[in-house]
Amino acid sequence: MDNDRRRFLYASTMFGMSAMGVAAVEGRGEEKARDESSEPEAGISAAEDLMREHGVLNRILLIYEEGLRRIRVNEEVAPEVFSKTAALVREFVEDYHEKLEENFIFPEFEKAGKLADLVKTLREQHQAGRRATNVVMRVSAPDQFLKGDAREQLLIACEGFIRMYRPHEAREDTVLFPALHSIIPAKRLLELGEQFEAEEDKLFGGKGFEKTVEQVAVIERHLGIYDLAKFTPK
Ligand SMILES: [Fe+2]
Ligand SMILES: [Fe+2]
Repeated sequence: MDNDRRRFLYASTMFGMSAMGVAAVEGRGEEKARDESSEPEAGISAAEDLMREHGVLNRILLIYEEGLRRIRVNEEVAPEVFSKTAALVREFVEDYHEKLEENFIFPEFEKAGKLADLVKTLREQHQAGRRATNVVMRVSAPDQFLKGDAREQLLIACEGFIRMYRPHEAREDTVLFPALHSIIPAKRLLELGEQFEAEEDKLFGGKGFEKTVEQVAVIERHLGIYDLAKFTPK
């Protein structure tokens, strides 16, 4: 067994164990938290909903960055770091969050003839993001992950994804969403928030945001980047 393969298998096993262990431990705590705040998320406006979903995307970008750093310095990294993260991107970011933007938010700007160029670029970037995720999914399959050219494609796809999504979500947060108030009445915005909740329930059986945050935290713990204090400069 060569060193790469041994390191890969070790990392995979560790990932499986820690993922299950953390989920079991965290599950109990979250259950309690959920009971205490079982109020429906009434009153969360559409923009706030989308912005906290960007928080999930940001944590996903940090996971990709840590995965890439490990590959570059030849540290062990399990393919699941990429494959599970890409699956979360597909399910939560692309098939949920971006569908909300494409179906409910962008059309409002297109109808009002506002920020047309920005919306066009945002739509194109959603498609580019999907293409990058397709690559990450393909090359993080266990039989692909150790191959040199697959690694190269993984690096290019993840780097491109990170580079695009930082400005993409920042532009939505600072330009697009703040402008929503000028084209949609406040009452309609709250209704949109409720529609978003309904979509979330339909896709995830409720608590899609919370469930996704939990899954992101499992991967962060596995990578040793969960502890926020670690990011404070000494
Ligand atoms: Fe977007
Ligand atoms: Fe977004």
